[in-house]
Amino acid sequence: MNTSAWIRRSHRWISIAFMLTVIANFVAMAQGRGVPPPWITYAPLLPLALLMFSGLYLFALPYLSPDRSLRSPQRSVGDQEAPLA
Ligand code: HEM
Repeated sequence: MNTSAWIRRSHRWISIAFMLTVIANFVAMAQGRGVPPPWITYAPLLPLALLMFSGLYLFALPYLSPDRSLRSPQRSVGDQEAPLA
């Protein structure tokens, strides 16, 4: 697997981790025991930061590709090796 496919796959799985931390915040708040502990409140920030950097990389990929046929946001380098499911 090349680097861009690896980063695309990481972005996908980190998004699941991010989603779970957001759900944990909703669950903690729904319990009605006041403000949740800071480690729950701030848990989404690390995966969100990782998503931002990997996402910006994915965004730039089609524009930086030396292969002109790939230089389109509709079809980026990582698409070729990363099945959606
Ligand atoms: C924080 C800043 C983020 C940036 C700059 C960003 C950017 C991107 C870009 C450019 C792509 C590739 C789109 C394409 O090639 O068609 C992408 C794919 C994706 N993003 Fe993000 N994203 C961010 C955050 C998130 C978040 C918060 C989630 C979900 C919780 C998320 C989930 C996904 C998923 C599931 C994909 C598809 C990955 C695949 O190809 O399988 N991203 N993102």
